[in-house]
Amino acid sequence: MDQTQWHCHDCFHGMPEAATAGGIVVVIDVLRASTTIVTALANGAIGVRPELSPDAARTAAMAAGRGVGECLLGGERGGVRIDGFDLGNAPRDYSRQVVGGRRIVTTTTNGTAAVAACPRAEAILVGALVNRRAVAARAIELALTGSGAPRPIHLVCAGTDGAVTEEDILAAGAILDAAGATRLDAAAAAARERFRETIRGATDLRIPLAAALADSRGGRNLLAIGMGADIGDAAAIDTIPVVPRLDRSTGWFHVDP
Ligand code: MLT
Repeated sequence: MDQTQWHCHDCFHGMPEAATAGGIVVVIDVLRASTTIVTALANGAIGVRPELSPDAARTAAMAAGRGVGECLLGGERGGVRIDGFDLGNAPRDYSRQVVGGRRIVTTTTNGTAAVAACPRAEAILVGALVNRRAVAARAIELALTGSGAPRPIHLVCAGTDGAVTEEDILAAGAILDAAGATRLDAAAAAARERFRETIRGATDLRIPLAAALADSRGGRNLLAIGMGADIGDAAAIDTIPVVPRLDRSTGWFHVDP
């Protein structure tokens, strides 16, 4: 049973930098930034670099070899691919054939900003439903590394434009459930209960999860722009055993360890 202390931040907007200082952060933007970063690295991308703006992303991608085909530029605004970018933010766009052996620079509306909101964390991981068991286990390992007291683990939900979104809370609850967490703050306890209620009685967890994602704010946005297929991909719980971790010295996410 896990004895580390878990916190859930329902939406990173307004969260002080000090809130996650020294802790292990898991950034969650299940529809779709975190699912897409996990998928890209699982499919052989060398690294994924989050940038806050399209211009910053263009500059970083050129520096990383976009001009010679070594780096791709991905991301969205309003859910759709940004003009001139190679890829949008749909997980299925990041297939092995497309991203294998390449670097990816990405900018998304909320997910990449959530990463930037945790500058004093000891470690930043990316969590989604697809890798929830793997990310739960790795977060605990990192929390217990070292001789002092365990570091706290912070689940930082991206939300949408400053509002809490159901899909991120569900993924946070799924990670807590997999962790066997016993020390939870009130938001974490509520998230885990929400996940448990959602999957109650199901044999294939993807079915109620996809239904709940479709009914969430992020899911409704995707359905409205014809990207409903991404919901099923994001609901594919425990299918990817890959954990992205940010290398602070370079600004790139790589597969950890
Ligand atoms: C975001 O960062 O806000 C998202 O991942 C949005 C999206 O994928 O459409």
